[in-house]
Amino acid sequence: MSTRARLTVTVNGRTYTREVESRRLLVDVLRHDLGLHGTHVGCEQGVCGACTILLDGEAVKSCLMLAAQVDKRSITTVEGLAEGNDLHPLQQAFRDAHGLQCGYCTPGFLLSAVAIAGRGVVLQGAALREELAGNLCRCTGYHNIIEAVERFLRQASGARGDG
Ligand code: FES
Ligand code: FES
Repeated sequence: MSTRARLTVTVNGRTYTREVESRRLLVDVLRHDLGLHGTHVGCEQGVCGACTILLDGEAVKSCLMLAAQVDKRSITTVEGLAEGNDLHPLQQAFRDAHGLQCGYCTPGFLLSAVAIAGRGVVLQGAALREELAGNLCRCTGYHNIIEAVERFLRQASGARGDG
């Protein structure tokens, strides 16, 4: 017999209360119960990063967490980045730098990069590639993704008045 858990979670500023099977993965609850299909499923074993979300501001892989673990916590998915019709600056940087092809990996890269920016660091080049090593892309060869994230991090640093 499966056990169930009551879950109250804030996602993109909206609070949801759901009863879920204790064994269900967070990514499945986001996609199927809350209808947030922007979080993608790839490997389901923590390798590809397509399912990356922000949990209390930290990038985590939602295929490696149970939904019951996020009770009373706050999540951001890719749907929470744009404001109305205005792209998030990082989404705009991806657009400007042609940082995607099929787009399957893109939500994961976006959330990982937002988490980096949230730490107030301006990583570039090899250091940035290493930081994003948990996100895989099989289309782009990574060059334009890195370019887009570099642009965004520089812009975010400028907006903070760093350096
Ligand atoms: S689907 Fe979660 S890391 Fe690949
Ligand atoms: S753009 Fe297709 S997997 Fe990255």
